[in-house]
Amino acid sequence: MIRMLIGITVLRLLFFCGFSHADDQDNRQKISMPVMMKERMLARMRDHLLALQEIQAAMAGNNLDKASDIAETRLGVSSMPMPMRHEMAPYMPQSMRMIGMKMHKAASIFAMKASEGDEQRALSSLSEVTQQCVACHAAYRLN
Ligand code: HEC
Repeated sequence: MIRMLIGITVLRLLFFCGFSHADDQDNRQKISMPVMMKERMLARMRDHLLALQEIQAAMAGNNLDKASDIAETRLGVSSMPMPMRHEMAPYMPQSMRMIGMKMHKAASIFAMKASEGDEQRALSSLSEVTQQCVACHAAYRLN
């Protein structure tokens, strides 16, 4: 019983710490863009997350070709239509665009390595992809 109480207290503390951490002051830079563009960007973001999940499921099923296709078409360098790139670029600071570019490149490298069957290098590129998701989210938010 005592053990259980201690366990619950520790869990509560962990939850509280995590919560207060997430609630910390938000120092991310706010990015303003027209509403239509914002909605399109967030829809793309949600698809990025879905693509990552589908890639992981394909890898778990040992289907590297499928993982490669998903990565190139949904996250890779060729995934962003040129007109959209030109349209969005003026609203993003240079460093934000750089992070975006790094993410697209890492996804294309993942796609290449996965299609070559080089699972180790593919996984390392995939972690670079998520590293850029994290980097951008840590620095920027939409207004
Ligand atoms: C170049 C910057 C950048 C990169 C790279 C990036 N994001 Fe985002 N993402 C954003 C911004 C800005 C927001 C809005 C956050 C806010 O306003 O709090 C966002 C929001 C999101 C959302 C929330 C969508 C919604 O409907 O609210 C998801 C999910 C998301 N991103 C997933 C990802 C994933 C997965 C990756 C990597 C594969 C990724 N993003 C890469 C900038 C980026």
